[in-house]
This record gives sequence, structure tokens and C-alpha cells, in this order.
Amino acid sequence: MWHFFNPVQIDAGPGAFDGLPELVGNRRAILIAFPEARELGLCDRVQALLGEQLLAIETDIQPNPDVSWLSPLYERLWRDHPDAECIIALGGGSVIDCAKAMLTSTPSGTFAELLDCLSGKASLSQPPGRVRSLIAVPTTAGTGSEVTPWATIWDKGQGRKYSLHLPWTWPQAAIIDPALMCSLPAAATLASGLDALSHALESLWNINRNPVSASLAVSAARQIIRHLPLLMQDLSSLELRAELAVAAAMAGLAFSNTKTALAHSLSYDLTLEQGLPHGIACSFSLPHVMQMALGQDAQLDQLLLSIFEVQDSAQAVAALSQFLDQLGVSTDPAAYGVSPEQWQQRIAQALQGPRGRNFIGAHAMDAVQV
Ligand SMILES: [Fe+2]
Repeated sequence: MWHFFNPVQIDAGPGAFDGLPELVGNRRAILIAFPEARELGLCDRVQALLGEQLLAIETDIQPNPDVSWLSPLYERLWRDHPDAECIIALGGGSVIDCAKAMLTSTPSGTFAELLDCLSGKASLSQPPGRVRSLIAVPTTAGTGSEVTPWATIWDKGQGRKYSLHLPWTWPQAAIIDPALMCSLPAAATLASGLDALSHALESLWNINRNPVSASLAVSAARQIIRHLPLLMQDLSSLELRAELAVAAAMAGLAFSNTKTALAHSLSYDLTLEQGLPHGIACSFSLPHVMQMALGQDAQLDQLLLSIFEVQDSAQAVAALSQFLDQLGVSTDPAAYGVSPEQWQQRIAQALQGPRGRNFIGAHAMDAVQV
């Protein structure tokens, strides 16, 4: 028995962004956008589309949203714009995650109260206050956050991260317009494309895999492997941007039902310690993780071999390593300052975490370690 569920409406294709007013309807909205959105004319475009319904524009959004600046933003937006019924998130994963953190009001009006709920100090099965709806407009092809209810929130001061995951933080709609992605610089294009590949593969070597998620993931991974190297040579190609945008959304849909697994679990410390971009941190280990996954489940092996169009496991691992190498991403943990001993320790530790335990080989690895 299996389930697949995703309530997010998807409007996609070049020009889809012009459909924003229809999705907003007669509601009042706040725009949360990436810092360069103003100079690219995107804030003016939203203002022109929504007129007086747009109550506020926030563009001071940093990568990897941290409680130190989320807190004052949250408290200010709820205090100054209590009537806003919807938030438009225009940007990459950090912007969409930030917007998800702004959706739920608390009785005290403080962000600390929401964090207490997320860290398990209080239960949150019902919204503690009002809830705004979210329209997510990704400007990168990678995060998948536009079709999931999750957000990663960092507390670098305390060296920890929170996972925001509430029943009402699914976006109402995602507008996937590749024309918004054409100005994305090379490094961010690469990191986001690899994040999407990681989502696809992590949803396959996952104990929560089902036939629908698997089909989406295989299609997404094939498209990314085929088109990302081409896009890196031709960043302004709308056609290639569209291929990556669709692949990233499919990978997002796949992992919206499985969650991620070992490669993501291994990534968070590297992002926290060294500021390594998420898409690189969660993808450099993919060949190693794939090697651990192969041989665990014949159906999974078949799916993975079909992505790379090869006949055996060694060829699949070599093909993935070569793919990353040609994009300039080292697959050696030492390149990120992690010794072989530390790497083995990190894997053992990651397998015990919630995402690591989604990894299809986690239980078998436990048995080997015992
Ligand atoms: Fe990711």
C-alpha cells in the first residue's frame, strides 16, 4: 500500500508569472523577494500586477535564513500588516523558506514562540494563530521548496537548524516561469541544478519511495544529467532553463512525498561549518551514497541504471562521478576539509538522524556496524 499527496497548484511555462493576479484574487499580499529583485525590475512588475493589493515589499533576504534576522522580520510583518492574507515568495530556496516562516502568527506575536513549537517544547497540531497562504515563484531551478511544506531555518549562533514542517505550510500555488531564471549567475545555476538532482536521487534510495515518486524522480534525474552541462555553456537559453525548471519541479514533487535521505543529512554540517552552498554540499557525496544504495533493492538498482543508461553498478557510479567532475564539483570529502576517518564517522552519525534513516540502506548498515 502506498500514498502520493501534493496539494500545490502548478502554473508553469514562459510568461506564467503574468497569471499572478488571478492567483492572488482580491486578497492583500506581501512580497518577499531576493535582494536583486528590485534592480531587475521584478518588484515594480509585481507592484504593477497587484496595485494597491500589494502592502509591502521585503528584499533584504539572506541565504540560509537565520533566526537572528527572521525574528525581527516576522514580528514587524505581523505587527505592521496584520491584514495581509497572502505572501508571494519570489526567489530561490532561502526566500521561499523565509516566506514559510512568516505564514503562521503566534498569540504573543513573537517568533520565539513559533521556534519553541518547532523544537518540540510545545505541540503545534493546530495553527496557534492566523495563517497566511503562500504563492511560491522560484527564480532558481533546484530547491523544490515551491511544492513542499518544509523550510530549513538556521540558528548559527547556537550551531543548530530547525525544520519547519507544518500541515498548513504547503504553498497554495507555485508559478514556475523559466523566463525568471535566465539572469541567474553560473554558480547559483550549478548549485541549484545539483540540489534538484540530489532531490531526485535521494527520493529513489528512500524507504518512502512509491511508484509515482520514482517515475517523477527518474525523469527529473535524466533531464538534469542531460541538460545541466548544456545550460552551464549557455546560461541565457530559455529552452534549457525550461528543461531544468520542469526537472527541478518534478524532483520536488518526488521528494515532497519521500523527504530526503543520507546525502542531505551529510550536507548540513558542511553548510553550517563552512557556508558551503546547499546544492554543492548535498550533491558531492551522491556517487558515494549511490554506491552504498546499489545492491540493497533490485528494483532500485534497475531505476538507477536506467538513469545513466548503463549495465552495471560500477558504471553507474562512474557516470555520476564523471558528471560531477565535468561540472567542477569534487566528489572527494577531503576537498571540503573532511578526512577519510571523519567522513566515515559522519556517515555513521548521519545514518542515525531522521533523514539518514530514510536511506534505503540504513538498516543494513546498522547491522554491519553492530
Ligand atoms: Fe536540497
